[in-house]
Amino acid sequence: MSEPVLKVENLRKEFGGLVAVKDVSFEVGPGEFVGLIGPNGCGKSTTFNCISGLLDQTTGTVEIFGKDASTMRPDQIQNLGFTRTFQHTRLWRQMTVIENLLVPPREQFKPNPLKAILQSSSRPEEKERLTRAYDVLDQLEVPHMAHNLASELSGGQSKLVDIGRSMMGDPKLLLLDEPVAGVAGPLALKIFNNLRQIVDDTGISVLIIEHNMDFILRQGVDRIVVMNEGEILMVGTPDEVRSNREVIEAYLGAAGDDSGGEEE
Ligand SMILES: Nc1ncnc2c1ncn2[C@@H]1O[C@H](COP(=O)(O)OP(=O)(O)OP(=O)(O)O)[C@@H](O)[C@H]1O
Ligand SMILES: [Mg+2]
Repeated sequence: MSEPVLKVENLRKEFGGLVAVKDVSFEVGPGEFVGLIGPNGCGKSTTFNCISGLLDQTTGTVEIFGKDASTMRPDQIQNLGFTRTFQHTRLWRQMTVIENLLVPPREQFKPNPLKAILQSSSRPEEKERLTRAYDVLDQLEVPHMAHNLASELSGGQSKLVDIGRSMMGDPKLLLLDEPVAGVAGPLALKIFNNLRQIVDDTGISVLIIEHNMDFILRQGVDRIVVMNEGEILMVGTPDEVRSNREVIEAYLGAAGDDSGGEEE
């Protein structure tokens, strides 16, 4: 098997007396579309925060392409090709969609935000970035939104633009934290289909947090990591997850009630 893009081993994160993530291990391979799922507060976003360098884990390791990234800063991890979105979308509201794509993500601002913005707009490859931004909007099938103000977008459209922004630097792995939460059914479906297409077309990997088990089981991910109370309950294909009694008992029964965007 080819080298994993991401390898998380025995990851543990404590906040004071609270153990948010308990010895979590899993891998994401090249060109894989992997779901990370589990009930509220089970440690999904904390796992993302440790992978992307925003939090220092208490113990355990994060490897990126076989390289120990456990103590790297967010900008260093970004430079290795990992980009992420946040559970709460962070667009620049008074900028247009295309401008939002051109501004580097906030984690890249170190050490000087103003310098990062000025540099990004004066580099010779500015034109290439603009072309790339339009290509990304094409890939997400929303080229018509290029000149809309971010403040005019619906929640679902904002999430799409946020995904677009994470795709700007030709990432190797996209970490998406609930990109379809609260998004209406048809748009949520479109986002999943687009992601599947992007994975197939470009060979990048995607790790997506999705709260609604019912939704993620049916929308084309290759494997699912199921977390519960900070631990990994199982890792398997959608079929394997669907037929795992432990998962059904711990989680699946409640999943149908959630607002993950599924529409009948
Ligand atoms: N910075 C923090 N300081 C203290 N506790 C935290 C912090 N971040 C998260 N936690 C706690 O860690 C646990 C896991 O939180 P986390 O946000 O990772 O869950 P989640 O699986 O992403 O949940 P949700 O589905 O609601 O987004 C929760 O009990 C949460 O309150
Ligand atoms: Mg979360």
